[in-house]
This record gives sequence, C-alpha cells and structure tokens, in this order.
Amino acid sequence: MNKPAAPKALLNIVIGEWAARTVYAAAKLRIPDLLAGQRRTSADLAAELGAVPEALRRILRYLAGLEVLDGDEQRGFGLTEMGQLLRTEVTGSIRDFVILSGEEWHRSWSQVVHTAQTGGQAFEHVHGTNLFSYLDSNPEASRTFDRAMSGSVKLFNEVPNAYDFSGAGTIVDVGGGNGELLGTILASAEGPRGVVFDRPDVVAAAEAELSARGLTERCTLVGGDFLRSVPAGGDTYVISRTLHNWSDEHCLAILGNCAAVTKPGDRVLVIERVILPDTDPRLSLAQDVLMLLVTGGGRARTKDEHRELMEKSGFALREVHALPQDFSILVAERV
Ligand SMILES: C[S@@+](CC[C@H](N)C(=O)[O-])C[C@H]1O[C@@H](n2cnc3c(N)ncnc32)[C@H](O)[C@@H]1O
Repeated sequence: MNKPAAPKALLNIVIGEWAARTVYAAAKLRIPDLLAGQRRTSADLAAELGAVPEALRRILRYLAGLEVLDGDEQRGFGLTEMGQLLRTEVTGSIRDFVILSGEEWHRSWSQVVHTAQTGGQAFEHVHGTNLFSYLDSNPEASRTFDRAMSGSVKLFNEVPNAYDFSGAGTIVDVGGGNGELLGTILASAEGPRGVVFDRPDVVAAAEAELSARGLTERCTLVGGDFLRSVPAGGDTYVISRTLHNWSDEHCLAILGNCAAVTKPGDRVLVIERVILPDTDPRLSLAQDVLMLLVTGGGRARTKDEHRELMEKSGFALREVHALPQDFSILVAERV
C-alpha cells in the first residue's frame, strides 16, 4: 500500500490524540464491560451510565469507526477484538494501561513544551511531586499503575521461552511489581525459588497474585529501595522494564547493588525495549520521550548503552533474545 501523502499522514498523527482520548473515555466509563457478550444501543447504555444519549451515540459511532466497537444504533453496538481488550478482568486486558495513559501520562504529555523549554520533568510540573512519590500517596493510581504493568501477559509468557530458568536457584525480581512476571517464571520451572522485591506498598499487593497461583511456598516478598540495596541470596536477578525509569547514575546504583550480592557466574536479566537499528523505532522512541517527561533521567537505551552500564557494574552482556512488543531480554553474567 502506498504511504498516504504528507498532509494526510501528518493529520493522522495529530488526530491520533482524539482517538486515544475517546478510547480512554470508553474505558473510564466501563463501556466495554457493559457490552460484554451483548449488543446495546446508546440509549440503553446512557440510561445505565446516567449519560446523555445523543452525546454517547456520537462517541460510540466514532469508536465503531476506530474498530474498537462494531454495529450502529439500529443493530446496537458490540465489542470487536480490540474492544474486548478494554474490559476489566480479561486475559490480556489493557484497560489499566489506557487509564494510566489517559490520566497521569496524558497530563504529563500536555506539558511536553515545558520539558522541551526547561528540561524539567513534566510529571513533577503537573503533579507537584515525582512519579513514585505520587504513587506512594495515591493508592488508587498506584494499583492502576501496577495492573497496567502486569497486564503484559503476552510478554511475560514469552520470558520463560526466551531464557531457561530451570538451572536457577533463587530468582530475585528487582522492581518486580505485583509478582506477575515472577509468578509466570516460577510456574514454568519447578526448581527455582523466588523473591519479589519492590516498594513496600507494592509487594503487599503481590501477596494476592502469588497465593492465587499457589506459589507462596516458593516465593517471598521483600519491600525496600533498590537504590540502596537489593536482597541477597539470589543467583539470578531479573530487572524488568525498570532501568528505563532511571538515569545512568541510578542504573549503576541498581546494577551495582545486584553486583554487591552476587558472585561470578550469577546472572542479571534485563528486560527492556532496546533501541535496535533493525526494529521499528516508534515504540522505543515514544517510550524514550515518555521517560523524559515522567522521570528524572529515565530513557530508552541502545544495546551498547546497556552493555556499558553492565560492564561498569561488574557484569558482562552475554546474550540478547527478542521478546514480543519489541522488548528484548539482555542476559548478563557477573564477572
Ligand atoms: C515500570 S515498573 C515495572 C514493573 C515490572 N517489573 C514489570 O515489568 O511490569 C517499575 C517498578 O519499579 C518499582 N520501583 C520504583 N522505585 C523503586 C525503588 N526505589 N525500590 C524498589 N522498587 C522500585 C516500582 O514500584 C515498579 O513496580
């Protein structure tokens, strides 16, 4: 297919924000949950939501145009495959990511000019504090953030296929969130034990995830600050989608803390969207600007930049394996 002419291509980029806002509204109003397994008219939905039928009809019609919904007012609106992913409590749901994108990330993107002109963090500019302090004092946003991260089922399921954990003794997931990834890894290999290490409030929520998987016997939860130390006793340290939140100095602290508790031959596995010359850069570069806006020094990195951080911390990069959604797993060995 030919590329659209420049004006149309640019316009499509610009109105992408309108589409994203409308998808956010649908998720926020839980419209996909209300359409699960049934077609409904806007009048019917509006009555349940306390919304204005004509306004809702036009929004649903746009969502059908975006192929998030299908149908129309006569037949009723229903969910497409994309729309199903906006439901709560379904495998692979990205509803929480849509809410995070439509709220904290949206407010931050609205200040991209501020960041360009001052270099200051857009997130701090609009929220008055940095990301993780904000999450510490906003439990609802914090749960949404954790669920948005752990919604990456497809990615997590591929991690044990990309790296064989059966020879590991104890796997420590540094910044392990609510334990979804470690739970997936432990379910794939019977031998290893695990530790989920994260901010104290976050590991409290991980308990439910691990007990739902029947893994409480094999896994412990530790709260703390990875900039100060990480739990000792592991031979395999996983750092998934976390280094991009931090400056090089902070990454050296996190990796250095892993080096301090490991011995030669132990592993650090870093999961990141690496900027690679031969992959579509749109996701990694969008994430890079997001990190510019919402963190103090976080960034997407190339493979060589990761290698350098690892070498400075006492690890040698041995292998890189591709994962879904342009992620990679970088396998490093303590030297
Ligand atoms: C972007 S999330 C990634 C979560 C998970 N590893 C994943 O791949 O979905 C970053 C994680 O780092 C944790 N974190 C942030 N600052 C931390 C700190 N100082 N000490 C420990 N964990 C921290 C956050 O709570 C969050 O769970």
